[in-house]
Amino acid sequence: MKAFQVLFVLSLAATAAHGQSFHSGFCPRPSVQDHFNVTKYMGTWYEIEKLPAAFEKGKCVQATYSLLADGTVKVHNAELLSNGKINSIEGVARVKDPSQPAILGVSFFKGVPDGPYWVLSTDYQSYSLVYSCSDFFGLFHVDFAWILARTRVLTDAVISQLHDKLAAAGVNINRLTVTNQTGCEVMQKS
Ligand SMILES: *[C@@H]1O[C@H](CO)[C@@H](O)[C@H](O)[C@H]1NC(C)=O
Ligand SMILES: *[C@@H]1O[C@H](CO)[C@@H](O)[C@H](O)[C@H]1NC(C)=O
Repeated sequence: MKAFQVLFVLSLAATAAHGQSFHSGFCPRPSVQDHFNVTKYMGTWYEIEKLPAAFEKGKCVQATYSLLADGTVKVHNAELLSNGKINSIEGVARVKDPSQPAILGVSFFKGVPDGPYWVLSTDYQSYSLVYSCSDFFGLFHVDFAWILARTRVLTDAVISQLHDKLAAAGVNINRLTVTNQTGCEVMQKS
């Protein structure tokens, strides 16, 4: 393994220990959005809830996706830190197998393996449910999940449906945390 990969695994392990997203055995294989259309998915999404991810400490978390000429997706993630600064990072997402368009890989650093990005369910216009799980040596897996919305609020009815879908996928929904999406006026749309 290269130093990068070792660091990646260590940081994931630290995140997992911190966020308790560490489970024995292999990743679950939840069903994903049928006929996923990546074009309709472009634009800005706001994070409503997430499974603990220690690398995101801010509020007003948002992601903006835009299609690049080569068919890959530019990812721009931004959040507002407690000191008032905006923290952002750019990455690239791609569909690896065209027969599985709802399964993407996202990479933020060159040389580091892609993180999985599975769109479990979306209507493109209001909500999206995203799941990410990585297997380690067949011994344990580390997972993340995000409930995203086109606006900074999502109705309780929709959140509740998405909780049911996550639970059906074997995810412990009690581990979800709500992202603060108030006082976000300084954030821009992209
Ligand atoms: C995907 O969505 C775009 C934008 O709405 C549309 O033009 C395109 O035809 C759709 N692709 C498929 C395969 O349905
Ligand atoms: C969310 O952020 C606002 C504005 O900074 C703050 O007033 C509020 O207390 C925060 N809410 C929670 C639940 O932390």
